[in-house]
Amino acid sequence: MSQQEILVDSSQQVRNNSGGSRSRNSVGLIATGLVGGTIAALYVVAAPFVAPALRKICLPFVPATTAQVENVLTALRARSGTLVDIGSGDGRIVIAAAKCGFQASGFELNPWLVWYSRYKSWREGVHCSTSFHISDLWKVSFAQYSNVVIFGVPQMMNQLEVKLAKELPSSAKVVACRFPFPTWVPERITGEGIDTVWVYDAKTFSPHLQQEKTKETTQGHDMNDT
Ligand SMILES: C[S@@+](CC[C@H](N)C(=O)[O-])C[C@H]1O[C@@H](n2cnc3c(N)ncnc32)[C@H](O)[C@@H]1O
Repeated sequence: MSQQEILVDSSQQVRNNSGGSRSRNSVGLIATGLVGGTIAALYVVAAPFVAPALRKICLPFVPATTAQVENVLTALRARSGTLVDIGSGDGRIVIAAAKCGFQASGFELNPWLVWYSRYKSWREGVHCSTSFHISDLWKVSFAQYSNVVIFGVPQMMNQLEVKLAKELPSSAKVVACRFPFPTWVPERITGEGIDTVWVYDAKTFSPHLQQEKTKETTQGHDMNDT
């Protein structure tokens, strides 16, 4: 082989090698993109489920059992009108209540659960009597609801007790699932074990808070009269 032929042959080999490394680079880029995309997608889906654990009061998504839902409905059998599930999860209590004739709403921090609840209520044919809101329960007033359901955690019940006593009308009933309120006295307890629900009548809420509320309402009326 002449020297010229050797030179042509080796430059051909160099070109072939750089083509191979370019295609390896593209495969590497695609793989990195796929792995990165998958991690980002997993983060977007999982973050709202993990976020409650990082809040001051950790209230994770634990769906109500079938018996628990039945106990809530039994507790509110003689009732009608508006109902709210505070921290509505996948919407099972709201949807079950709507099927019993309530105008039912859910407030939930996790957007995936809210979108799923809306889809499920549409699938189950109760979307006209349900509504789901992506909201922080501490930033919403529940004053317009005459039936309130909460499946909370013990760490939040003290603070929620004060909030609800200030906001709810005296005609309201509150149902606490699995964990009771610390100072309110229930008018009824339904179910047992983890499915227990406690039913409270707003008329029996802490009297000084009710008095303060009446005073505020009266003062509001007086101001409007002048
Ligand atoms: C124990 S689960 C109850 C779910 C549903 N109520 C049920 O009984 O099936 C509590 C829910 O409250 C939601 N949550 C936690 N913190 C919240 C907040 N600050 N505001 C609104 N919802 C919250 C969680 O994402 C979770 O879905």
